[in-house]
Amino acid sequence: MFDLENSVRENIKCLTPYSSARKEFGGAARIFLDANENSFGSPLERNYNRYPDPLQIKIKEIIAEQQNVKPNEIFVGNGSDEAIDLLFRIFCRPQKDNVLICPPTYGMYEVSAGINDVETKRANLTKDFQLDFEAINGAIDGNTKLIFVCSPNNPTGNLMKREAILEFTRTFDGVVAVDEAYIHFSPRNSLVSEINNFPNLVVLQTFSKAWGLAGLRIGLAFANEEIIEFFNRVKPPYNVSQIAQQATLEALKNKAAVEKMIVEIVSECKELVENLKAFSFVEKIYPSDANFILVKTTDANSIYKFLLDEQIVVRNRSNVELCANCLRVTIGTYEENENLLKALEKYEKSFIH
Ligand SMILES: Cc1ncc(COP(=O)(O)O)c(C=O)c1O
Repeated sequence: MFDLENSVRENIKCLTPYSSARKEFGGAARIFLDANENSFGSPLERNYNRYPDPLQIKIKEIIAEQQNVKPNEIFVGNGSDEAIDLLFRIFCRPQKDNVLICPPTYGMYEVSAGINDVETKRANLTKDFQLDFEAINGAIDGNTKLIFVCSPNNPTGNLMKREAILEFTRTFDGVVAVDEAYIHFSPRNSLVSEINNFPNLVVLQTFSKAWGLAGLRIGLAFANEEIIEFFNRVKPPYNVSQIAQQATLEALKNKAAVEKMIVEIVSECKELVENLKAFSFVEKIYPSDANFILVKTTDANSIYKFLLDEQIVVRNRSNVELCANCLRVTIGTYEENENLLKALEKYEKSFIH
């Protein structure tokens, strides 16, 4: 059974977190002379001379209401990549503990493990890209502190079975981090609603995908308040900039626009899949619950290079486990997808016939 006290690294439990000026005094005052800011202003039309809210309270209050959780069950980070890194820092002792990943999956889990000097164990997905619990149980050991489950998974696009994730989480001694970066494109429910039923469940989401705000760098982690408290202790004091916070607050007022884009992207996805099926070099298009598709081709390297010459960049995933000859294609606008299809017609004419 998971026990938070035993799972968090000793040095993190003992840590006295940095107490920033804006954390010590977050109220209203007439004059702020506490943070060594430049009181004269910024060399811009708008002033950014004051440090931002270290705990992003306004953003959390809105998201809490939208997702039916409490503000202190949310961590806001500089992209969800920050949350991924913090999970290692909180739970994994360098050179002692390990993390389990289920390839093919998002590459940053392993990179973050490497940066934190934590061993990565692997249990490949099954042929239909679901979690292989026999392989997972065979790979984990007493020092496996963290498992990443990406659902919908990057690069395969499919959701993992919800009940299977929860059943595993119930018995696992470490933290299960379910990365829902692409969940907004899926008709299925997020696991955020389960964070209080599972003390070891952390759900990651991001504003970089459906919300269309990759440039702002805003990611989220949802978990019970004890785990979120550790995120807050370990994160840099002002991890989300003022500009990013302001723009996120603006965006949150416009959820309808996001919902409209999601409908359009899902519809474009169906259209693109139908059109791609017609090409002789397309062997398989895997079902997707995300804003990209994984396409198995007869020769991914040559298609990839051809598209590059046409100034179209897709992601070549050929060298990734279970993805031989696969390209990952993000769903673009109608025009972008048309351009892609035209380029592929050209490829077919020049190389196949
Ligand atoms: C599964 C998954 N998680 C997380 C991220 C990173 O998200 P962010 O932009 O919030 O750091 C990505 C980005 O591609 C992703 O595919």
